[in-house]
Amino acid sequence: MSEHAPVTIDVHLNNQDPAAIREEIRAGLLETPRRLPTRYFYDDRGSELFEQICELPTYYPTRTEHALLKTVADDVVARTGAEELVELGSGAATKTRTLLDAMARTKQLKFYVPFDVSEGIVRRVAHELVAEYEGLQVHGVVGDFLAHLEHIPQGGKRLVGILGGTIGNLRPESAAELLSSIEREMASGDFLLVGVQLITDTDRLEAAYNDSVGLTAAFNKNMLRVLKSVIGVDFDLDAFDHVARFNSAEHRIEMRLRSVREQVIPIPDLELTLHLKEGEEILTEISTKYTRALAEAPLMQAGFTPVAWYTDPDHLHGLALARKP
Ligand SMILES: C[S@@+](CC[C@H](N)C(=O)[O-])C[C@H]1O[C@@H](n2cnc3c(N)ncnc32)[C@H](O)[C@@H]1O
Repeated sequence: MSEHAPVTIDVHLNNQDPAAIREEIRAGLLETPRRLPTRYFYDDRGSELFEQICELPTYYPTRTEHALLKTVADDVVARTGAEELVELGSGAATKTRTLLDAMARTKQLKFYVPFDVSEGIVRRVAHELVAEYEGLQVHGVVGDFLAHLEHIPQGGKRLVGILGGTIGNLRPESAAELLSSIEREMASGDFLLVGVQLITDTDRLEAAYNDSVGLTAAFNKNMLRVLKSVIGVDFDLDAFDHVARFNSAEHRIEMRLRSVREQVIPIPDLELTLHLKEGEEILTEISTKYTRALAEAPLMQAGFTPVAWYTDPDHLHGLALARKP
């Protein structure tokens, strides 16, 4: 038995400056085209909807990454010698088990740090994993990885993972900023494993974000529910349609909420009245698709050295392994 409690959870979201949060939302709504910060998809309901989306036949990315991880996890663990896995945007940590299993097989597994904005899921995963892996310590961090990375507990030989295409949900400048801050938090010789969805045919890409049972639509609209607790607005969810299209110039899927009618929405918290025309769209998510070169360039820019590139037989998903020199 370890002398330490197997589960520790730190919550940092309450430390956010409400004025800065309001300003970020306000600025996005006033941009052309209008946009909202993607992280507001994720309260506990948003995380659950995302888990259900991952089970859909048309949503191939999760299945593909999981299968790929199964084939490469032993190689990743052998190359990195990691004792600790820090996972940013850990969600339900389903695929994470593949890496934890490989670490457990070599008796290296000591510590797991799930880091996510969704508190419920961090707590759930922490308790599940200590029950599944003997001797494992879990130190969960509930926070925004664009603001709270310095709260990652310091430790031994680490592998930091960003799986599930999470990096592709960030605009290029935010992704670059995230990679640089990860690099600053890592010790020399630590490794980073980044999952990226690869560019493939448009029909397959768009089908993944336009399921017939409406789960992706519900996930998209969930942002409006989450925003109620942040800026106090009761949006009419029926007044918005879900839209997802591939933007080939930016090689990304763009998810939007389209106003089905003209709307005038007073938002006193933002000192703003939002006028939406019929058909006007608000950008809620991007999901960038990559090639190997597009994935490795920002890693190198942030100071990492790429050490391995893994892909599935159909070239739908990539995993870039890089090292901090
Ligand atoms: C696309 S899901 C991927 C989940 C999981 N890694 C997977 O592969 O299935 C993105 C995850 O990142 C989390 N997330 C999104 N933005 C975040 C942020 N700014 N800080 C921390 N977590 C964030 C979400 O709560 C969600 O669990």
